[in-house]
Amino acid sequence: MTENKHGKVLVFDSGMGGLTVAREIQALAPALSVDYAADSGFFPYGDKSDDALRERLPYIAKKLADAARPDVFVIACNTASTLALEDVRAVLDIPVVGTVPAIKPAAALTQTGVIGLLATPGTVRRAYTAKLIEDFASQVRVISHGSVELVRMAEQTASGEALTMDAFRVAQAPLFEAERGDEIDTIVLACTHFPLIRGELAATVPHAVTFVDSGEAIARQTMRVLPDRPASAERGGHVWLSSTPDHQKRLVEVCRRFGFMDVRELKEE
Ligand code: DGL
Repeated sequence: MTENKHGKVLVFDSGMGGLTVAREIQALAPALSVDYAADSGFFPYGDKSDDALRERLPYIAKKLADAARPDVFVIACNTASTLALEDVRAVLDIPVVGTVPAIKPAAALTQTGVIGLLATPGTVRRAYTAKLIEDFASQVRVISHGSVELVRMAEQTASGEALTMDAFRVAQAPLFEAERGDEIDTIVLACTHFPLIRGELAATVPHAVTFVDSGEAIARQTMRVLPDRPASAERGGHVWLSSTPDHQKRLVEVCRRFGFMDVRELKEE
């Protein structure tokens, strides 16, 4: 069921991953204005140190919010949210929606009691992620694998580059090679890039599994926090980049395919 909500939402990620969240928001609320932002000058987040991201995220979020003037700021990135959601909230005066790895729904879904967690190395090592597992999956075996390579493969695939199926099989193999890996029946796509390659991942698992992600839950949460009287009347459809669009031709093309036509560069001092 769609919602007839108005206002402007800015969906933010390091690169193309947040587009998978933007499309869930647009599907749920087609009348909403949506802008997209990629911190392309700092991509990828998955292998950055916690200190570097903690310094970067409130800074870039404030700059983007000042430039795009959204009613809601959506951090469509597990790596950023699990580290710096509160730091971003502290510098913005609008609602901020974060991305929580879908560990709770996966733990409710598993029949075998073994789930896989596919994320970036950053998300895998977070205390936030450990707490989610403790709170919602303590009775379940969670096998985690962090991969920046899969993030890059997702961007390559979305850009139309044909990778071999074997590359996808190899990239997720550590999940299944771990102890009780052969019992995994549910995999959490805890990186917003990974729904871009859901088909490739599904085609190269050694046995049938269900993939779950947070996209729809983020869209519903965005509707919940959207102000009744949104301040922004501006139409959406812009994409904000923190590097020059010339250096990001592939990203620009993919954003356009998702409906973000008007490219704007976010100048950094
Ligand atoms: N899309 C981001 C996430 O959900 C991470 C990608 C990156 O490493 O930059 O974690």
